[in-house]
Amino acid sequence: MRILSGIQPTGELHIGNYLGATKNWAELQAKHDCFFMIADLHALTTPQNPKEFSKTTLSKFIELLAVGLNPEKCIIFIQSHIKEHAELAWIFSTLTSLSELERMTQFKDKAKKQHTNINAGLLTYPTLMAADILLYKTQGVPVGKDQTQHLELTRTIAKKFNSTYGKVFWEPETLLVKEGAKIMSLAQPLKKMSKSDTEESSIGVFEEAQSIQKKIQRAVTDAGKEIKYDPTKKPGISNLLTIYSLFSDESLSQAEKRFKGKEYSVFKKALADLLVKKLEPLRKKKEKLESRELYVQEILHQGRERAQSIAAATMEEVREKIGLLKA
Ligand code: ADP
Ligand code: TRP
Repeated sequence: MRILSGIQPTGELHIGNYLGATKNWAELQAKHDCFFMIADLHALTTPQNPKEFSKTTLSKFIELLAVGLNPEKCIIFIQSHIKEHAELAWIFSTLTSLSELERMTQFKDKAKKQHTNINAGLLTYPTLMAADILLYKTQGVPVGKDQTQHLELTRTIAKKFNSTYGKVFWEPETLLVKEGAKIMSLAQPLKKMSKSDTEESSIGVFEEAQSIQKKIQRAVTDAGKEIKYDPTKKPGISNLLTIYSLFSDESLSQAEKRFKGKEYSVFKKALADLLVKKLEPLRKKKEKLESRELYVQEILHQGRERAQSIAAATMEEVREKIGLLKA
């Protein structure tokens, strides 16, 4: 199956992004024909600092390699390097109605959040996302629940194009990441862990051991003493158990058994040790990649070339179907 997913180059990866997205990508690359993209053009819908932006983009690329994406098994590239994304997004914007775009919950949420900067890109964001996906004739898109509405619109756009101009695109499936992989904030366990939240609410994938230990120690727990998975009554402990289970590859009930009758502090210490043990190799890998500039440039180049040839071929078909005059 051909698979594509993307991530914006904002903020450092936290364990929520890792468990909910990138770890899953690393598993998919073994079985499928995978494309992973840094969505830098999407990130422009919120203001970015031009002096920092290229550095954060490169850094996110390195982070994806560090968490296990293998350039020999998948294609990793930067969205803005392939000009066809913007070109196809324009064409899709002519096939999408204003009301379809205005209905998107992400648009409504972001418009509220950044009410002094409701730029047109915030509204047309899904047509660019549809272009990202459809350009590569993608069949499956692994995303979190928050992106399912965008995927529905992507299928609508594919259908509309195919029926208007003739078949070019697949209607891709949404490959939903398992519900258990939704990691909550350490400070407010009823809210999801997010980059845009406070420092102590999340744990970075590349964080130093000491800082990880401190954050786990301070993580909010619940009344009572029992270490039990019960997200309604014990959201804090349940979240920590979920993290433990996903990093240790033990089921939740196995993890519960392991800590039965133990104090919260013993569990927290074990969780911190586990995180340090699992994350340390990723941090080392990132550091190593940061010192191998030529190698990273080579992979960037290779990803770009491979994505480019596919994108160009699809765009050629699109132009012909639409009847754009050949250059
Ligand atoms: P953030 O909310 O930290 O800004 P993004 O919205 O950029 O993260 O999401 C990047 C990817 O990580 C998406 O695939 C999203 O589904 C996943 N993701 C983000 N936060 C979590 C979380 N707390 N638990 C699981 N997956 C998450
Ligand atoms: N919109 C996605 C997010 O914010 C990122 C993204 C951009 C994406 N293009 C994509 C995801 C294509 C999947 C496929 O998380």
